Amino acid sequence: PKVIFVALDGSRRTIDGAAGDSVMATAVRNGVPGIVGECGGNRSCATCHVYVDDGFAARVGPPDDLEDDMLDLAVSDRRDTSRLSCQIKLTDDLDGLTVHIPDEQP
Ligand code: FES
Repeated sequence: PKVIFVALDGSRRTIDGAAGDSVMATAVRNGVPGIVGECGGNRSCATCHVYVDDGFAARVGPPDDLEDDMLDLAVSDRRDTSRLSCQIKLTDDLDGLTVHIPDEQP
């Protein structure tokens, strides 16, 4: 499935990811700037914070409680569509998933 990363300046990068991989792992492996993934996907760093595009937010769903707490610690403003990208798995249903990269990660 494809995943599209939108940078702050509006530039888009489309990556052909593997189903089952997280959005964070896909970004890090492909050197997408602004997604760090410091804790390796353990929901304990919030350096993988993204804003899910409105068109996908319902399908991606909300964070669970642990992730919710972690998002409060993210450096960039939290929004309704904030998620930790290490907790979003690519699936064929989410083909074309679009996420926006926040302005700052530690
Ligand atoms: Fe650390 Fe997602 S990679 S919380």
